[in-house]
Amino acid sequence: MATLIAPHGAAELRPLYIDDADERANLEREAGSLPSIVLSSAAAGNAVMLGGGYFTPLAGYMSKADALAVGRSMHTASGLFWPTPVLNLVREAGRIEPGDRIALRDPNVDGTPILAIQRVEAIDTFSPGEIEELTSQVYGTTDRAHPGVAEFLSQGRMAISGPLQVLNYSYFETEFPDTFRTAVDIRNEMSRRGWRRVVAFQTRNPMHRAHEELCRMAMERLEADGLVIHMLLGRLKPGDIPAPVRDAAIRKMVELYFRPGSAMITGYGFDMLYAGPREALLHAIFRQNMGASHLIVGRDHAGVGNYYEPFEAQEIFDRIPKQALAIQLFKADHTAYSKKLNKVVMMREAPDHTKEDFVLLSGTAVREMLGKGIAPPVEFSRPEVARILMEYYRERP
Ligand code: ADX
Repeated sequence: MATLIAPHGAAELRPLYIDDADERANLEREAGSLPSIVLSSAAAGNAVMLGGGYFTPLAGYMSKADALAVGRSMHTASGLFWPTPVLNLVREAGRIEPGDRIALRDPNVDGTPILAIQRVEAIDTFSPGEIEELTSQVYGTTDRAHPGVAEFLSQGRMAISGPLQVLNYSYFETEFPDTFRTAVDIRNEMSRRGWRRVVAFQTRNPMHRAHEELCRMAMERLEADGLVIHMLLGRLKPGDIPAPVRDAAIRKMVELYFRPGSAMITGYGFDMLYAGPREALLHAIFRQNMGASHLIVGRDHAGVGNYYEPFEAQEIFDRIPKQALAIQLFKADHTAYSKKLNKVVMMREAPDHTKEDFVLLSGTAVREMLGKGIAPPVEFSRPEVARILMEYYRERP
């Protein structure tokens, strides 16, 4: 059987979800009598990622010292390569003390049911200066108008660190049964299919023709066994298209335009950070953990507004230690439909073209068209995809 790429920093995946049903039932009983806190949405997303093995080899939430080390040097205090802090930040810890076991409640599900149990290793408070510095290192800005920065700064400043036992996958399992998959699930499915060279595509958007062709180009050029479309299912900034709509649009595109069996449609439960380059590195880690050998990183990957240069998320990979990651990048240039060649191309591969030779539409322009019930040109969007998006805009209150 084909062997897949090794997980990050470990020989085996380390999912923190408690797989054994009896053990889980016992822990759920115990959790009912433990002191509990309601997590931030970001911390709940971390628990879901840790549960599914995506954040291998981490054993739980980072300490303040680890988070500061990650901010400064992209390594934890013990030398593990990691680009973004994985924290449980709270405003107040009440009577919780190091050594306690606590129940973590899910802010994203009605009734805040218990998501995980944590053993509290330490409770440390970040000074305002430390939070500011960490924000600037991770997001490249401290501007509160940046949606990721605003979200990060809205969380508390006390970090409760320590190992986790994850009891469920929040609303992702129930709301996206066909799409939500853990890193364990995806590795198992790749093995079942005999895939070894696998391209991962990160997305938080519906896929237009540029995305579709980018995936196809990557698969062909890398001679990959298959593609895993891996969409974000967690929270986004206002204005972004909700996950169920994106999911439906992507499914339609794959059904109609991909060779049967060549693409897996999957998603992960995590909120978007909009941290551009640092988030691209995190993306690479968790795609390696799910078994992908390659990750597509194109233009303005995980970006927002004008906070990052268009290819900064690719360039950061040239500045990390060579052995930091085993997964490789597929660096994509700006991709668009060429009216001269009648196909989607990477712009750097059409040096004789001027801007006017491409079908270029901004995200805002496309949203406006869809909102008015106008389908974008077929060179930009597949009509069947556009139909799903127009329907969403039509029915939106
Ligand atoms: S992201 O925040 O998840 O990165 P999006 O879903 O828009 O946003 O992009 C998914 C991937 O496709 C990213 O790697 C991004 O860089 C790439 N991408 C999107 N549009 C283009 C394009 N026109 N040209 C090149 N790469 C693109």
